[in-house]
Amino acid sequence: MSRKLRVAIIGAGQVAEIVHASYYLTRERLELVAVVDSHAERASEFAERLGIPHAFSDASEMYRQCQPDIVSVCTPNRFHHQHVMQALEQGCHVMCEKPPAMAPEQAAEMRDAARKAGKVLAYDFHHRFASDTQLLREQVAAGTLGEVYVTTAKALRRCGVPGWGVFTNKELQGGGPLIDIGIHMLDAAMYVLGFPAVRRVSAHAFQRLGNRKHSGQFGEWDPKVYTVEDALFATIEFHNGGILRLETSFALNIAPQSVLNVEFCGDNAGATLFPLHIYQDDGGKLVTLLQRETADDNRHVKSMQAFVDHVLGAPASIADAQQGYLIQQLVAAIYLAAEQGTSIDL
Ligand SMILES: NC(=O)c1ccc[n+]([C@@H]2O[C@H](COP(=O)([O-])OP(=O)(O)OC[C@H]3O[C@@H](n4cnc5c(N)ncnc54)[C@H](O)[C@@H]3O)[C@@H](O)[C@H]2O)c1
Repeated sequence: MSRKLRVAIIGAGQVAEIVHASYYLTRERLELVAVVDSHAERASEFAERLGIPHAFSDASEMYRQCQPDIVSVCTPNRFHHQHVMQALEQGCHVMCEKPPAMAPEQAAEMRDAARKAGKVLAYDFHHRFASDTQLLREQVAAGTLGEVYVTTAKALRRCGVPGWGVFTNKELQGGGPLIDIGIHMLDAAMYVLGFPAVRRVSAHAFQRLGNRKHSGQFGEWDPKVYTVEDALFATIEFHNGGILRLETSFALNIAPQSVLNVEFCGDNAGATLFPLHIYQDDGGKLVTLLQRETADDNRHVKSMQAFVDHVLGAPASIADAQQGYLIQQLVAAIYLAAEQGTSIDL
């Protein structure tokens, strides 16, 4: 049997532990050998808690001593680009947390570097890996919905500003709910639609609550240094004539505590995620074509599994570097449209 592949994680925070380390530790073909965090004590505590042999505060030292085959990048958004580029230069396959980076130019550079190195670069857009999303993608491709001309994606929280990390800091994150949670439903929608070509985008962003309130369902934050949008509404127009509306918020005065779903309206049938429901109008009566009682919540595991399987040569589809670039390009265009108050042609 071939040797185990050596894995390192950069950024010893909550997603690194809950998603990346916990998955790597279940795979027999892998060996989690190192963790890096710019806060040395966080790296050591993480390593000790999870039984990882090496902890570092400097990634270059980690590469020198540990020579990993696979690297997970779980740092704040601003550092994704540098950590992915370094990992590819070191000849590693990379699983990078979303968003790919801060700007489309960086995501393009990362994609090109992965191609040149002949290594896998995947992004953790995990909602597309839910079996609901996978099944709907098949149904849309098979024509069950007819032509899908209106899609509405929502990633809304009533008062859910993250109270940990740097999610309210524009310089380190690149933005607020759009680049953090809206991007997930944007990816799920684009995946189901088969990444249609985008014609133009328009958007409105607001900062009305995050800089006034200071606590919510995900803890406390400092409103004085809240520099990202707290709600954003965008319309994406496709060359095929269809539109995708995106609504996203960390804080917005809505009744539900949170909403995470996408609705697809075709000229033959409609569908919603999550859970998957496909329906049709029959003379004014709603007919269910397919309905799942509960949504598949095993999405993170499936996203990690697809990446590792792909690295190991199995035919597994990943959220790849080109798709990551397209999503980053959309996010940038939406922010620009909101800032300029004009629509942006792509
Ligand atoms: N896919 C998802 O659903 C999901 C969920 C949560 C977070 N994320 C993404 O994961 C990333 C991290 O989020 P988190 O919630 O784990 O944040 P976190 O704050 O819990 O963890 C980030 C860690 O990175 C470390 N760090 C900061 N700068 C560094 C640097 N230059 N080098 C090395 N380490 C550095 C911090 O000390 C911290 O321990 C973000 O990009 C976020 O968007 C994705």
